[in-house]
Amino acid sequence: MSIDLNVPESDVARIRSVSPATPRVAIVAGSGLGGLAERVEDAVSIPYSQLDGFPSVGNVVGHAGKLVSGTLAGVPVVVFAGRVHLYQGVTAHGAAYPARLAAALGAEVLVLTNAAGGIASDLAVGDVVVLSDHVNMTGDNPLCGWAGPEGGNPFVPMTDTWDAALRQAVLAAAPTSGLHVREGVYFGLLGPSYETPAEVRMLRSLGADVVGMSTVMEAIAARALGLRLLGMSLVTNAAAGEGLAHSEVLEVGARSAVAMEGLLTSVIGHI
Ligand code: HPA
Repeated sequence: MSIDLNVPESDVARIRSVSPATPRVAIVAGSGLGGLAERVEDAVSIPYSQLDGFPSVGNVVGHAGKLVSGTLAGVPVVVFAGRVHLYQGVTAHGAAYPARLAAALGAEVLVLTNAAGGIASDLAVGDVVVLSDHVNMTGDNPLCGWAGPEGGNPFVPMTDTWDAALRQAVLAAAPTSGLHVREGVYFGLLGPSYETPAEVRMLRSLGADVVGMSTVMEAIAARALGLRLLGMSLVTNAAAGEGLAHSEVLEVGARSAVAMEGLLTSVIGHI
């Protein structure tokens, strides 16, 4: 089966009909980071249920399920308040829909945020990791079935996936954020079960800093579509922490999320 990374024209038309400006930056707000959508000025929002190409899945707690268009720090943006994850039973191609839609709308930069488990021993709950690289351990890829750009090939290079200048901008702004921020490598797993202690030991020995169940499908599609990428993980728990519950992930996220949202907003103002 061949796939197309393009999105239905109807979705682009629907968004442009209420928000004609071309967004410079698209942001996917991860678990508990939906406050980003509330910072958008002159905001118009469209529920995902009104977009033909968005895979329809029940929303995960902590994910709103709407696109918000407007400005952030004066920059035209779209914020995806909620994403689709492979563990919801969608295809890899479907899980990458926010990245595909961002490209179709003309965005130059895609910011992928997420809540993640801390693997590296120096990371504490509430820390932020700016992604310098990732490892796709989901076993899937959104480019499967894609013929490549205009009859090209689908062998997209993944070196320099995460834009060095954007990363430096976050690190430069970090000292005034009140957060502990460092670069690191994100390992994307399928989920939805959390990692076993043995899996955490394996991930640590393989060089993981943080682990999560999102981001990599969107990142791969974004790379294929030529977007510049910035990734930020909020450490909401130590992976394989005792008695880990999704409600705890959201609660810790809420406390540091506000600071991380402020940090990202200030960086966007300078993109
Ligand atoms: N593991 C995987 N995904 C996650 C975690 C975790 O510990 N925390 C938040 N998302």
